[in-house]
Amino acid sequence: MSRLLSITSLVFFSSSILAAGSSAKLERVLIDLGNKQSLQRGAQIYMNNCAGCHTLKYQRYVKFTDHLGLNPKTIEDNLIFTTDSSGEKTKIGSLILNAVNQSHSKEAFGVVPPDLSLTARSRGSDWIYTFLLSFYKDESRPFGANNKLYPNVNMPHVLWYMEGVKQPADEELNTFKYLSTGTHTKDEYKSSITDLVNFLTYVSEPAQLDRYRIGFWVILFLVIFSAIAYLLKVEYWKDVK
Ligand code: HEC
Repeated sequence: MSRLLSITSLVFFSSSILAAGSSAKLERVLIDLGNKQSLQRGAQIYMNNCAGCHTLKYQRYVKFTDHLGLNPKTIEDNLIFTTDSSGEKTKIGSLILNAVNQSHSKEAFGVVPPDLSLTARSRGSDWIYTFLLSFYKDESRPFGANNKLYPNVNMPHVLWYMEGVKQPADEELNTFKYLSTGTHTKDEYKSSITDLVNFLTYVSEPAQLDRYRIGFWVILFLVIFSAIAYLLKVEYWKDVK
């Protein structure tokens, strides 16, 4: 009995620790993988601002043709900025890698910027969204910025030119005061971050889009098949009285 009690209390105790760990309030982001325009905008923000440091090593550019509805020329002209080892422009069939030198970036940031292919699954979309909204000015940090959700993060606030620079106003309420404005208003910035997180959520499981498409036909097939099965049943039982 006492063993049962201690196991039960252990379960309760550890779940309260888990709850405490996740108590940093995450802002909810509305993911809409069916919104191709949002995915396209997200891809553009990603390639222009993040791809220089973070790879998407499980994703090929060419997948953007089906999934994002982009034609190959648009992808080559607007989303591919790297060259391959022979100095030629990276091919559309290539994986989304970059030229970051691991030891240099360790020296610069103290860590190698992680690959972001699976981050939306490991951390969650809400986490990435909140993370990108939580940067604030902190002169004591090497890049002059810190993060409320990920204290002492070794990533600069690369989107400061969009968001502007802010600093915490009320610790309790988790509000910020803006020191300077960026190219985007607060709502525009949130909407761009939503597109970016939507894109990273798609990248973390591209097959979701295929499943949505196939799912529609499967349901349609089941409906038609049920109708045929019902008509057959009526036909077979007609003479059995
Ligand atoms: C100048 C290089 C650089 C750029 C550009 C950059 N990051 Fe980072 N990022 C980093 C580094 C370094 C880390 C690791 C920070 C740490 O662990 O302290 C990081 C960490 C992250 C993490 C946390 C990953 C995890 O699971 O811990 C996310 C999410 C992220 N970056 C998203 C982005 C997005 C989105 C962009 C584009 C808007 C971007 N980063 C641009 C350097 C960069």
